[in-house]
Amino acid sequence: MGGFEYDIGFLGGGQLARMSIQAAQRMGLRCLSIDPSKATPASQIADALVGPLDQLTVLPEVFLKCARVTLENEFIPAGAIEQSQIIAGREDGVGVLPTWVALMHIQDKYAQKLMMKSSGVPSPEAWDTFDLTESPSFPVILKSRFGGYDGKGTRTVRTAEEFDSFRTLMEAWEWYAEQFVPFKRELAVMVYRSETEVGTFPTMETIQTDHVCDLVFPAGVDASEIAIQAVEAVHGYGLFGVELFELEDGSFQVNEIAPRPHNTGHYTLDWGGVSQFEQHVRLVMGWPCEKPEGQETCMANLLGQPGAGDYKAGIRHALEAVPEAHVHWYGKAESRPGRKMGHINVVGSDCVERAKLAREHFYAGWTS
Ligand SMILES: Nc1ncnc2c1ncn2[C@@H]1O[C@H](COP(=O)(O)OP(=O)(O)OP(=O)(O)O)[C@@H](O)[C@H]1O
Ligand SMILES: [Mg+2]
Repeated sequence: MGGFEYDIGFLGGGQLARMSIQAAQRMGLRCLSIDPSKATPASQIADALVGPLDQLTVLPEVFLKCARVTLENEFIPAGAIEQSQIIAGREDGVGVLPTWVALMHIQDKYAQKLMMKSSGVPSPEAWDTFDLTESPSFPVILKSRFGGYDGKGTRTVRTAEEFDSFRTLMEAWEWYAEQFVPFKRELAVMVYRSETEVGTFPTMETIQTDHVCDLVFPAGVDASEIAIQAVEAVHGYGLFGVELFELEDGSFQVNEIAPRPHNTGHYTLDWGGVSQFEQHVRLVMGWPCEKPEGQETCMANLLGQPGAGDYKAGIRHALEAVPEAHVHWYGKAESRPGRKMGHINVVGSDCVERAKLAREHFYAGWTS
């Protein structure tokens, strides 16, 4: 491993890279990120390259300079990773986690669903909209096969007429259709898997508002078994966020897998046990994992607000109201309404109410 300028290279420079780098730096690791934007959350705390993630202009440099490479989003084409390794002359030697093969299975949401189905992992029925000769039983969800996030690539369709009205969209882009699941709750499980270890963080309930995750807290049920099966189905190694539906009868279905730290794991920064970011770094380095155990914790996302001013006034207000709140701010260059700008963690038995209260005060201070 000697001879490299950096220990870990991160493909993407957003908040997930930033918080992973913070965990890595604590253990003395040198980190580099690459992102199309210059002023990123990660570039404020570590060296960064500016360049596209889907072209081979700057990307191979990461593979030349870093002993190991990992992802912070799943939108980078798997082929660009494979080719960058070859250009850097390291097709055998770079520890890229997850591998580009697992990434390839995951970044096409339709292929991801088919792989889960063929491995017997319960997940919604899915159809290629091009092959669909008969109307499916409505409602269905139309999803973009590639690149969706925060609900930006999903549409709910309730009738055959509505379905027909989407045909142009479906022909212009690659979409597929998914059976609508009448779920009771949405859950998420962080899964870690190496050649020798596999395990999960606790099962969390996630509340989504306007397609963006709003609150995360312990679900009181255990969906770890099916979450692990989902990661095994896509041949995944590393850290994964698995999103699930809980149905009325208590059964689970997997919605989707993210091959990286996940918004629903941010509570682990303050829960007293290993954080998802440290676990991620340990996996990338090939070091032993820690069994995740900690206290009941709630996370509330901080989203961009119209008329927002100085975020530090928000922090002051939140801490005055809830002194035990932990505010995390990502340092994004621009605040847009609905954009994830930071989050608040509160530990303890009344954590959900306390986190909501802290957030209300944060917003009041930020927008006053
Ligand atoms: N088959 C389904 N049945 C019912 N609701 C669904 C289904 N698929 C998705 N949804 C709803 O739409 C939301 C967004 O879907 P999905 O997670 O696939 O997209 P996304 O854009 O990747 O979202 P995110 O970035 O928030 O994870 C889900 O959290 C869920 O509320
Ligand atoms: Mg999702």
